[in-house]
Amino acid sequence: MHAKYALLALIGTAFGRVVVKRDVQTILTALSNVNSATETLDTEVKAFDGSAGAISTLNADSAAVLSSINTGTTNVQATTPISDNDALQVASATETLINTLNTTIDDLIAKKPTFVSSGQSATVLSQLQQQRTASNSFSSAIVSKTPSDLSSIAQSLTAQIAAEFQTGINAFS
Ligand SMILES: *[C@@H]1O[C@H](CO)[C@@H](O)[C@H](O)[C@H]1NC(C)=O
Repeated sequence: MHAKYALLALIGTAFGRVVVKRDVQTILTALSNVNSATETLDTEVKAFDGSAGAISTLNADSAAVLSSINTGTTNVQATTPISDNDALQVASATETLINTLNTTIDDLIAKKPTFVSSGQSATVLSQLQQQRTASNSFSSAIVSKTPSDLSSIAQSLTAQIAAEFQTGINAFS
């Protein structure tokens, strides 16, 4: 084989591997970014004291969650479908996010009196509504990349995320 063709074959093989890995990695990275942004928000929620500084930090962290969800949707939409094995990793990363969201929204609800007394309750509601809408698109993008035999599992996981947002929205409505 000519060196040139050997090199092309090698590049082709390497490229193939990168592409296969990138698809699930894109989804895992997106989930992990949303999870980290949510954990940061949770820390601020727990520390929230109604001061101007806390309000501004909280709004910035909440905007960061929204932006991580929207970026995730764009990136996931651009990937190709994943395998059954990859879907297991995605399911596990989704479970992690479900738990983080559960804690964060429960903490938001526990802090509601402080949000009310500092005049931030309507802002929190609006942020939750925007995050829920963005999260629905993010979930749809992930489900659309999941093998069809696993799509009912994927849908039940994403339904849990939607239910958590709904619990938060109900508490602030
Ligand atoms: C979090 O999980 C607990 C226990 O399952 C549940 O009672 C609570 O409603 C959940 N919170 C949210 C925001 O979904």
